[in-house]
Amino acid sequence: MNNFEFKNPTKILFGKGQIENLSKEIPKNAKVLMLFGGGSIKKNGIYEQVSAALSNFEVIEFGGIPANPEYEVLMEALDIINAENITFLLAVGGGSVIDGTKFLSSAALYKGDNPWDILTKNEPTLKGMPFGTVLTLPATGSEMNSGAVITRRETKEKRIMGGPGLFPVFSVLDPEVIASIPQHQIANGLADAFTHVLEQYMTYSVDAKLQDRFAESILQTLIEVAPVILKNTSDYKAASNFMWSCTMALNGLIQKGVPSDWAIHMMGHELTALFGIDHARTLAIIAGSHYTYNLATKKEKLAQYAERVWNITEGTIEEKAKAGIEKTTEFFQSLGIKTTLSEYTEDYKGTAQLISKRFEERGWKGLGEHGKVTPSDVEKIVEMSY
Ligand code: NZQ
Ligand code: ZN
Repeated sequence: MNNFEFKNPTKILFGKGQIENLSKEIPKNAKVLMLFGGGSIKKNGIYEQVSAALSNFEVIEFGGIPANPEYEVLMEALDIINAENITFLLAVGGGSVIDGTKFLSSAALYKGDNPWDILTKNEPTLKGMPFGTVLTLPATGSEMNSGAVITRRETKEKRIMGGPGLFPVFSVLDPEVIASIPQHQIANGLADAFTHVLEQYMTYSVDAKLQDRFAESILQTLIEVAPVILKNTSDYKAASNFMWSCTMALNGLIQKGVPSDWAIHMMGHELTALFGIDHARTLAIIAGSHYTYNLATKKEKLAQYAERVWNITEGTIEEKAKAGIEKTTEFFQSLGIKTTLSEYTEDYKGTAQLISKRFEERGWKGLGEHGKVTPSDVEKIVEMSY
């Protein structure tokens, strides 16, 4: 096992009725900016519950943060934070609203001239404005981690940011919010969380037995609850297991002491930036090709995954590894997710070259757990995903 440090300061309030308890977690004299997305919370009762919980606070609202949160929109919210002397942010939404709030938390205290630099200069945020979240869509794990992904529409860029100053102070996880989520977003959440685990597991063994088994148990739980929650979003037992699995998939725990990959995400972000494809679906497009292309360096872990998660006991390491990749693709397809780029756009030719060129321009020499997936490898992997 590798050396590691682990600190996750986010307080979790999990379960039915927990939204009303958020008032106890916000400083009494706080001036709150409540941030939300395109309006789903006004149709499913979450807005009323949060408003009631905030009744003793001075609150300003900012709605309209779009999926794949946009820098331009967030800059409007930043103006309000500054003009109104806001002291606490409350994100009510999925990964997009929470990520947008993390950007604002960082930007509110940022000393530089241009907040876009937060996304391009790769400097971790050590201190941000305090914020809490009410999660409405299990998927990203953003509610218990310190990372964010922000989009700039004018340049079709999607960039990552983060740092120890960007953990939420608290997050409310009430599985009842899942009842109103459309099926395709549930499928996205399952696929995103599943891939988060894979990115931190499908590397090479460092004999971290507990981390491996944590990861495998999250994958198995997602596989088990997927058909149940897709069939009935009001199934509270399935909803709670789905929600907690998504959080545990990316709150740092399973990543400690082990190598991680994240190349699927880096390629996937480009597909969202270029074509607007949902985040989780971009991962389903890239994953199979990435694992097939890198079979030589990942086959032991792929075979372990095939055996322990999919019960594939026959065959050589290589055969099991390939069967594991096959099972992964079938799992995404069982969620109703298409797994090739050409099923999403007719305009796919040249995408591989374009993404590879972008990575070269950014000076990204090598991705993956060995830092050896070069822009030229990226070109081949994306091409295999057409
Ligand atoms: O905007 P509203 O009207 O609220 O509707 C949203 C949105 O259209 C809707 N929704 C959310 N909760 C709902 C609901 N509809 C009905 N009932 C509810 N309870 O769902 C739609 C998608 O929401 P969004 O927040 O965009 O989805 P998700 O949580 O999948 O977040 C995706 C974003 O997170 C980033 C992605 O890149 C993408 O920008 N990620 C963030 C990560 C992180 N911070 O750690 C890691 C991930 O890998 C990912 O990159
Ligand atoms: Zn993801």
